Amino acid sequence: MSQEIFDKAKQIQATIKAETPKTLEELEQFRIKYLGTKGLLKGLFGEIRHVDKERKREFGLLANAIKQETEAAFQQLKDNFEAAEGTESISLDLTAPAEPNALGSRHPISIVMNQIVEIFQRIGFVVAEDREIEDDWHNFTAMNTPADHPARDMQDTFYVMNDPGMLLRTHTSSVQSRVMTKTQPPIRIIAPGRVYRNETISARSHCQFHQVEGLYVAENVSFADMKQTLYYFAKELYGATKIRLRPSYFPFTEPSAEMDVYWGLKDEIDYKITKGTGWLEVLGCGMVDPAVLENCGIDSKKYTGFAFGMGIERQAMLKYRISDIRYLFENDKRFLNQFSAAL
Ligand code: DAH
Repeated sequence: MSQEIFDKAKQIQATIKAETPKTLEELEQFRIKYLGTKGLLKGLFGEIRHVDKERKREFGLLANAIKQETEAAFQQLKDNFEAAEGTESISLDLTAPAEPNALGSRHPISIVMNQIVEIFQRIGFVVAEDREIEDDWHNFTAMNTPADHPARDMQDTFYVMNDPGMLLRTHTSSVQSRVMTKTQPPIRIIAPGRVYRNETISARSHCQFHQVEGLYVAENVSFADMKQTLYYFAKELYGATKIRLRPSYFPFTEPSAEMDVYWGLKDEIDYKITKGTGWLEVLGCGMVDPAVLENCGIDSKKYTGFAFGMGIERQAMLKYRISDIRYLFENDKRFLNQFSAAL
């Protein structure tokens, strides 16, 4: 009788060894079949009472060994399945379409500003930047703008509350006085930056905008030097073939001029933006007034210079055919995304 039970146990052991569950589900069935509360091994342990007394211990050892083997096999298979599952979830699907990577785009103002700065850097101008909250002296007095000049009016300038000596700079010309009070000629700077004016916001004007300022002071700098430099600039930025300088007035330059570039009259839009003349006004310029040089501690008998300043928004609006200046400050992504292909 005992031998039969031993044979049965051996047989179960062999069957278990031959089992190869292939999925987690099959493994669970394996567990229920052999290790479960109503499983075959439980039954095997129950057989012990039919084993002859002198072989009970031997049978107990065998049954325990089978149980331990089976549990170990179960655990091993379970670990394997779980590890395989883990690798599956991080494994790469090389056929999956690439995730679109949303890159930012440069703001149209930055694009145009960088282009202008880069054109002047090529001929030896160096970038200069300074504060936007400026004092009255650097923005106006040093720049030869008298106390009764309309630009100083509260209607036009943002003053700092409780401190009328401080203001938001109204032009990048303030960088001229900043640089000239610190440095002796030769000076050759290009100064991009944001400026502020107390303007009613409309499609054409805003209370904040950007300018680029240029200044060249050295010995024997002439009006002809200015004209040639600005002609080079107009060719580079607009591909213009012609420029013209119209007499004008600025407190800080003498003589002063406004520069137009020849835009052409090819279509209706050209008529509109040049008001039918074919010419486009792009910047103000002039020979630095000797009084400005002296205000900043530069010997006006030894040195002369020229300066120019231009607004960026207008150039960007022309270049990209933007109809309303407010688009440039709203940061609407539908607007900004249109410049992602630009430099
Ligand atoms: N600062 C002037 C403005 O804001 C622009 C300007 C004109 C700058 C002539 C200059 C200049 O340096 O020479 O309208």
